[in-house]
Amino acid sequence: MFPDFRRAGARACGSAVAMLLASCSVLPPADVKLDVPYVSTPEEVVAEMLDMAKLGPGDLLYDLGCGDGRIVISAARRFGTRGVGVDIDSRRVADAAAAARSAGVTDRVRFLKQDLFETDFSEASVVTLYLFPELNARLKPKLLALKPGTRIVSHNFGIAGWPPEASSDVEVRGNVHRLFLWTVPQAR
Ligand SMILES: C[S@@+](CC[C@H](N)C(=O)[O-])C[C@H]1O[C@@H](n2cnc3c(N)ncnc32)[C@H](O)[C@@H]1O
Repeated sequence: MFPDFRRAGARACGSAVAMLLASCSVLPPADVKLDVPYVSTPEEVVAEMLDMAKLGPGDLLYDLGCGDGRIVISAARRFGTRGVGVDIDSRRVADAAAAARSAGVTDRVRFLKQDLFETDFSEASVVTLYLFPELNARLKPKLLALKPGTRIVSHNFGIAGWPPEASSDVEVRGNVHRLFLWTVPQAR
């Protein structure tokens, strides 16, 4: 049914392993429970994610678990896209806000300290994810309920039971980053 999908996990294991190692080495503030550790997406991979989503100035991008905000900020700089980054770790939200000020895009982006599972992202036209597969699976009902035509791009991990319509590999310093694209279908 999508034969490359499992092999993709193995090919993408460099950055997946980086995420696992980060979970051991980067401690969040004591009052914050991270569902996935902070590992940033390399800028070359961010560029490909935005190209896959065919981003435009009329889009509204949500990055769920936004880290330093690079995906939202890059979209605003390259395409004039409005964006919202959500992260449960206040250090990431502060870093993202500072990066947006440096990039001169504060009129188009905002960053929220929030649990992504409690975030209303129903107005999104593009959603980006760099989470674990079980988190993507938990998000699936909300993703499928987004407006038809909304694009979802995930770094390294698929969505169980929802084959992607396209995938793309980006090699960065010997690690292969696999990206997946879905478009929310018309409700049946
Ligand atoms: C792998 S990083 C991805 C960062 C960014 N999206 C990127 O691709 O560069 C995942 C991020 O999710 C955040 N996170 C973990 N659990 C979360 C939750 N329940 N709600 C919101 N953010 C969360 C972490 O703090 C981390 O910054």
